[in-house]
Amino acid sequence: MDSLLIKGGVPLHGDVTISGSKNAALPIMAATLLTPEPCVIRRVPDLSDTRFMLQILASLGARVSMRGDAVRVCAEKLNPVGNYDLIRKMRGSICILGPLLARQRQATVSLPGGCVIGPRPIDLHLKGLRTLGARVAIESGYIHAKAPRLVGAEVFLGGRSGPTVLGTANLLMAATLTEGVTTIESAACEPEIADLAHFLNKMGARIAGAGSPTITVNGVQALHGTDHELIPDRIEAATFAIAAAATNGEVTLLGSRPDHMSAVMDKLQEAGVSIKRRGFTLTVRRGGRLRPVDITTQPYAGFPTDVQAQMMALMALTPGLSIITERIYESRFMHVSELARLGAEISIEGASAIVKGVSRLSGAPIMASDLRASAALVIGGMAAAGTTRINRIYHLDRGYEKIDVKLRRLGARIRRVEE
Ligand code: EPZ
Repeated sequence: MDSLLIKGGVPLHGDVTISGSKNAALPIMAATLLTPEPCVIRRVPDLSDTRFMLQILASLGARVSMRGDAVRVCAEKLNPVGNYDLIRKMRGSICILGPLLARQRQATVSLPGGCVIGPRPIDLHLKGLRTLGARVAIESGYIHAKAPRLVGAEVFLGGRSGPTVLGTANLLMAATLTEGVTTIESAACEPEIADLAHFLNKMGARIAGAGSPTITVNGVQALHGTDHELIPDRIEAATFAIAAAATNGEVTLLGSRPDHMSAVMDKLQEAGVSIKRRGFTLTVRRGGRLRPVDITTQPYAGFPTDVQAQMMALMALTPGLSIITERIYESRFMHVSELARLGAEISIEGASAIVKGVSRLSGAPIMASDLRASAALVIGGMAAAGTTRINRIYHLDRGYEKIDVKLRRLGARIRRVEE
């Protein structure tokens, strides 16, 4: 397993180009199953998650290829089942369920694995598909869904933690080939859902309201191929912005979508970070003495749970007390104990982390646990004095394209150590 070796204390300086969004890529790649015609998706980040999804599509019988950041998928003929080992390994693979059911009227998909950030239920996914007429059974770790006929309906998709992103994606994709009108209430409003709807409408779907809590879909008989460029990854952009502030540097984010990052930019500015916006470019620097902030993660357009860990790394160096409350997942504080090994002073009170800023962090050997926690540890290591070694960075490679290369170009003393 690879590790990252970081010599901290170097302010980041320079430009970084933001990659395409992982969380738009996965459902949009799954959506290619809805048509027998070829689709091209551009700006696909080269990640283990996107490579997994390509393998899953190929295991289902689709012809797939990747040239640079362009992925081509042609799902002319499909097998009824895919490669369970692959499907089980990645939570995001659950979003093949809706398209398979819509295209073949049946689907067998392994239950997605949970992960360290908490149980990852799919009750809302199944509720949505059942409401359209699917018969769904769960047996020995697999979801068996059959729907000789799908009929449009009104579905309330809100759960105890609010909307479900991939649950909305699954239902949206299934509804495109479902006769009649489907209305999704309490739909997820994330930009990745709007990008998926954009892709589906280019395929001939008739979707209105994506990006709002109410989405309406008029089903059609068939969808055709299309060519689409993904939106940029707002979580990667937020991660680099926070890294610039944490290392007291100045970084320009190229090819971002500032309009997808309002909550993050608002909190960074409240913390004393200077952000200059010019079109799709953001220049971020610390700007002066950092100030503590209170953050509660919420569904979009609130503060994203996927940026919670990275923000905690910044608050660990911010004088005063910051309170970070995680409302989307039950246990998304795996990074706390590892940040503490760098000298951070953080205590957990229920769903909240109380972060007491310290004047300096010092490097240590630490361990990555999940994707965004790993990003927080990289930020902590770059801000710390001395050397930090982060083990198990395969977590990081799931969601950040060549992050060590991009950070080195910004002046970070970071290198990948193969073991
Ligand atoms: C998506 O996961 C993202 N992943 C996650 O990003 C992100 O953290 C999450 O949305 C929330 O924004 C992808 O898009 C591939 P949810 P998803 O269904 O769709 C509960 C990253 O770091 N819930 O919106 O799986 C669930 O337990 C990843 O890139 C149910 O109760 O998340 C959670 O508490 C991590 N029943 C909340 O809803 C369900 O049927 C939000 O989950 C589904 C979800």
